[in-house]
Amino acid sequence: MLRLVPLLAVVVLLLGLSAVPAQATPMPPGFHWGVSLAGFQSEGFAPDSNWRRYVEQGTSAIKHPYRDAVDFRHRYASDIELARQLGVNTFRFSVEWARVQPRPGAWDETELAYYDDVVAKVRAADMTPMITLTHFVHPGWVVDQGGWVNPRTVVDWLVYARAIATRYRGLGALWITFNEPTQYRHHERQNGGVGVFEAGTMMTNLVAAHRAGFDVIHEVDPGSRVSSNIAYLPPPLQGFADADFLNRVGDKLDFVGIDYYYGLSLDNLTAIHGASGEFWKIAPQPDGIYYALKEYQRQYPHLPLYVVENGMPTDNGARADGYSRSSHLRDHLYWVQRAMAEGVRVIGYNYWSLTDNYEWGDYRARFGLYTVDVLTDPSLTRRPTDAVAAYRETIAAGGVPADYVPVRRPAWCVFADLRTCLARPPVR
Ligand code: BGC
Repeated sequence: MLRLVPLLAVVVLLLGLSAVPAQATPMPPGFHWGVSLAGFQSEGFAPDSNWRRYVEQGTSAIKHPYRDAVDFRHRYASDIELARQLGVNTFRFSVEWARVQPRPGAWDETELAYYDDVVAKVRAADMTPMITLTHFVHPGWVVDQGGWVNPRTVVDWLVYARAIATRYRGLGALWITFNEPTQYRHHERQNGGVGVFEAGTMMTNLVAAHRAGFDVIHEVDPGSRVSSNIAYLPPPLQGFADADFLNRVGDKLDFVGIDYYYGLSLDNLTAIHGASGEFWKIAPQPDGIYYALKEYQRQYPHLPLYVVENGMPTDNGARADGYSRSSHLRDHLYWVQRAMAEGVRVIGYNYWSLTDNYEWGDYRARFGLYTVDVLTDPSLTRRPTDAVAAYRETIAAGGVPADYVPVRRPAWCVFADLRTCLARPPVR
């Protein structure tokens, strides 16, 4: 037994968790610094759609009235200006299919003109538009034809995708076909849009739509980059989720889009709170983004990675653990930069979200760089959190400094890398 002790010590050293941490190197020129938002969650004045109906029906997910969200529909110019002032060069938003195509074959020119102006303002602010075509929402008439269970929806979605990609071609846009397909399916299941035996069909149709959509967008907007962002889940869950979507579209991606929020380790099993929707109770695990990036670079070595979403929920603006949004932001960027220092190719990072918004049923979980009290403040004033200055300074500096020490220590025995059961990675 005693003879095993030195052996164990050597193993710990050899496992690469060496005493010298890799430097958090600055982001390269051309790196996409971004903010994210989505139509239904921010726009307000929602047309008939699956989600408008869920809100009206008061499904079990609905805890708060929708009202008019944070009225991005009318305040987009000032919100885009807030993003510009942060110094981001990429602005992610979604076009709402339900808004621009309220009936089959009918296009709403006023709403299309609204998106034209969003795109124009984003471009005028020297930002690259990242356009999501579907962020969990589809029109009421699509619901009526069976939603994504009906293969007809694939055909209709491709007409919509072609129209939008044609309208905004030649701008160097980054395109996201579907936001988090597995979460989309989860929402549809949870709200009763899709039955238990229909979930597989929905995914098969999303896969078909993405695959064909990838080709359509490249045809009408050559040179653009197209992907779908996956909701990262710690292993072993991620393997099942990827088998359902990502691995079926792997040859139709220009980059791997990763949304990282929560990790899992033996000393942090708080992700379980996600099951009850109390996301603010989950202890953030910033180093988890590093393992996620390393893993996807291993699986898709020929593709760059893009952190399409990262952010932290508060409980109505507060967190019991006192972890600030600015520390959360810097800590995650530190680990992104660590991964990059080790050769992982990351081309962008978007913060979720520019402002607080409708968190698919409630306003309690808040993710905004700017906070907005939808339920109590009719003026919908955008008030900066501490992360606004932090993001602005970090972008200006090209990332967190090389000597940055994360506020939150690395987790022990991370499910994504069991070598951490022997030793946590050093952070200087
Ligand atoms: C979604 C967003 C959501 C965010 C925070 C992602 O799953 O794309 O719509 O608000 O996570 O929960």
